Amino acid sequence: MLYDDMPLLKSIKDYAEGKALPLHMPGHKRGEIYKKLNLDMLFENIMEMDTTEVPGVDNLFCPEGPLLKAQELAAASFGADNSFFLINGTTAGIYAMIMSVTKPGDKIIIPRNAHRSAISATILAKLHPVYILPEVDEKMDVAMGIRPETVERTIKEHPDAKAVLITNPTYYGVCSDLERIADIVHSYGKVLLVDEAHGSHFTFHKNLPKSALSSGADIVAQSTHKTLLSMTGSSMLHIKGDRVDKEKIDFFLQMVQTTSPSHVMLASLDAARYIMDKYGYILLDECIKYSNMVRDEINQNTKFYCLSYDRIGRNGIFGIDPTRLSICVKDAGLKGSEVDRILSKKHNIQVELSDLNNIVAITTVADDDKVYYRFLEAIIAISSETKEFSDKTFVTKPPEYLPEKELSPFEAVYKKTEFIDINKSPGFVSAEMIMPYPPGIPVIMPGERISKDIIDFLLQCKDMGILISGMADPEFNKIKIIK
Ligand SMILES: Cc1ncc(COP(=O)(O)O)c(C=O)c1O
Repeated sequence: MLYDDMPLLKSIKDYAEGKALPLHMPGHKRGEIYKKLNLDMLFENIMEMDTTEVPGVDNLFCPEGPLLKAQELAAASFGADNSFFLINGTTAGIYAMIMSVTKPGDKIIIPRNAHRSAISATILAKLHPVYILPEVDEKMDVAMGIRPETVERTIKEHPDAKAVLITNPTYYGVCSDLERIADIVHSYGKVLLVDEAHGSHFTFHKNLPKSALSSGADIVAQSTHKTLLSMTGSSMLHIKGDRVDKEKIDFFLQMVQTTSPSHVMLASLDAARYIMDKYGYILLDECIKYSNMVRDEINQNTKFYCLSYDRIGRNGIFGIDPTRLSICVKDAGLKGSEVDRILSKKHNIQVELSDLNNIVAITTVADDDKVYYRFLEAIIAISSETKEFSDKTFVTKPPEYLPEKELSPFEAVYKKTEFIDINKSPGFVSAEMIMPYPPGIPVIMPGERISKDIIDFLLQCKDMGILISGMADPEFNKIKIIK
């Protein structure tokens, strides 16, 4: 068979042809939005359109024609002074925004559970990260919002930090009080960077949380491919106000992006912006209405709990993204991974992620009413097949303090390392970032001293079957330490 010798191509073709209901990114949902709006001719001949920077097609690193115009249109839509199209995902935007406001040796304040790209940026840029601990929700057992008071306290403890990075919303759709955070950050003369990877749609509807730019952020990186409609890997970086040096952003974006950008991907950003400008509000109206219908039905008629407006005001939660269906299944005695598997195998529905207690489904403007009803029916069916369950012991409580820091990650990664027995590791300095999921907050970073509390907690996570990411030894018997 033709495809048997092209295993990767076969895998994506098989997945597409399997027609699983995609409650995951990319937000265009297998091109569904383009069909829905009779725009499927736009990207019909992708191979024909795949080109390099020939005359008439602009240059990513010095745009002066159609790309410049497209970026200007995006800036107007998103409320930015300048917008930059990204080809290496929001990851590239996060690298560039962090590098543009710091120098090697500087401190930067970031959430302890920041995306790995932010941690990598501190390594690339040789920065000393100062961590803010997010609040953990006792019901879902995941990291939630960041309180403005925590940001202020951290700035006071580290007045020499150059900038503050906030992840808003989180993967689970939780927003912090960004406006207050922006006021605090600016009142101390610092720059506010926002990782809005999961919130590029916020600008387009009044019933969604306020966008980072309209909340006062200085630089914002967004994954247009996640919750809007562009191709996987295409994102945007926006800047606003006079705390940002546009030339530095230009410089660092050139450093972290490919010199052979796919213009088809870049053009898909232009198309996503066009569709949202023209139809975004009406489409989001539907998406929010149906997502809230699913949320309410789950909360009223199943044993599951879908993260809802009732959690606002707790655990640093200032708002929620209604289009993110984060569903806690532990009260039905199930694990998120089990529900994920049942949805996939029995109902041909694929969600974005699952952890020990939860599943997360992403709805976007590409989904029509049938999608929501099909998902809801499946969830109701799974819930009704479970018995009442009273043992709610799937709770992970990491140590409530940060480990002692010996080295910053950028210093730790260049040190000689060795593996030692996990039970003998307390007292040594870790060379690994270890993160149990949930709650998705690293318990140890490279350069931090391992304590007995941490090892006890990790062993407990292992016993409970919690996913522990970041350890080189999959058996979790040995840990990599600095010699
Ligand atoms: C919170 C967060 N920030 C940044 C990123 C990186 O985005 P991208 O995949 O567009 O590079 C992700 C990706 O999942 C993310 O979840």
